[in-house]
Amino acid sequence: MQSLDSLRTNALACRNCSLCETRTNVVFGAGNPNAELMFVGEAPGAQEDLTGEPFVGRSGRLLTSLIEGIGLTRDQVYISNVVKCRPPDNRDPEPGEVAACAPIIASQIEYISPRVLVTLGNFATKLLLETKTGITKLRGTPVAYRGGVLIPVLHPAAVARRGSAGLIEARSDFEAIKLALASDPSEVK
Ligand code: URA
Repeated sequence: MQSLDSLRTNALACRNCSLCETRTNVVFGAGNPNAELMFVGEAPGAQEDLTGEPFVGRSGRLLTSLIEGIGLTRDQVYISNVVKCRPPDNRDPEPGEVAACAPIIASQIEYISPRVLVTLGNFATKLLLETKTGITKLRGTPVAYRGGVLIPVLHPAAVARRGSAGLIEARSDFEAIKLALASDPSEVK
């Protein structure tokens, strides 16, 4: 298995799709390489592109507060995205861009091997669960995934758009994460 450092080195030099022409930084991922809890978002936005760090803009501040709300800090978890370079104007990543990047997130998940893997929003959920079912149906329910569990939750940007209803849904999703961390993943069917 490739180390996280060597995966990062390769990702920083990646020119496998045209996003390399417009990116400022590759946003590889950040946090604890031994984390029991890993988050996967969609793709970097403007702030992430500028800093090289995932989830540091508005969505990131909301994600941080949700993580802290279940008694953890960002340093204890690992945070990454399906696509590592910012799509211009925050458009959705295209299938070719996802295909070019997919091996990296697969290797990160394999390396970190979290007990609880959380997909943030439709994009990561559909890709990792290979499903067409939408996030509103799947959110908050753990499914067995590679020896641990995967829990789809609303993307923080969707939480913000839904206002106080979104926050209530997000807090309930994060309670499911807390519960999964406290229980034996082999019990999840
Ligand atoms: N949205 C994402 O999906 N990822 C980020 O890193 C920031 C915003």
